[in-house]
Amino acid sequence: RARQHYLRIQQLVETFPLFSEVGEDALEELLLLFNPKLASPGERVIRRGDRGDSMYFISSGAVEVRLASGAVRLEPGAFFGEMALLSGGRRTADVIAVDFCQFEVLERRDFNMFMSRHPNLRTIVSEMAQKRTEMNVMR
Ligand code: CMP
Repeated sequence: RARQHYLRIQQLVETFPLFSEVGEDALEELLLLFNPKLASPGERVIRRGDRGDSMYFISSGAVEVRLASGAVRLEPGAFFGEMALLSGGRRTADVIAVDFCQFEVLERRDFNMFMSRHPNLRTIVSEMAQKRTEMNVMR
């Protein structure tokens, strides 16, 4: 049982490099906050213009972020849905599953709590959101 738990933590770090920033205790906590979610090919996971209350981490499969200017493909290890959480605004793009997907979902409340306790992680996520925003403005 303990070993299985340890393996899940190890797997979390292997799949999501950004979590190598946080310690083992924090990862244990994250495992409790994560809600698993599945999607099928073609399924819309996020609708542009909606209010967003959750962030997604891709464990397996792939999604397409559909922007006015084209599509960006995201694969295991990537995350999405962080922008609406950080801005308090609306979803900036449609996100469509293009394969059978497994996600770990973090709700807004848990996101805020976890990120306030791990500011270095918040910085990484914010910088990614900033980069994406710049990319969308330029395209
Ligand atoms: P959010 O706006 O909450 O919902 C749509 C998501 O698509 C957004 O958060 C980002 O996670 C993601 N996204 C937007 N623009 C890009 C981009 N240029 N590259 C990758 N992902 C993006």
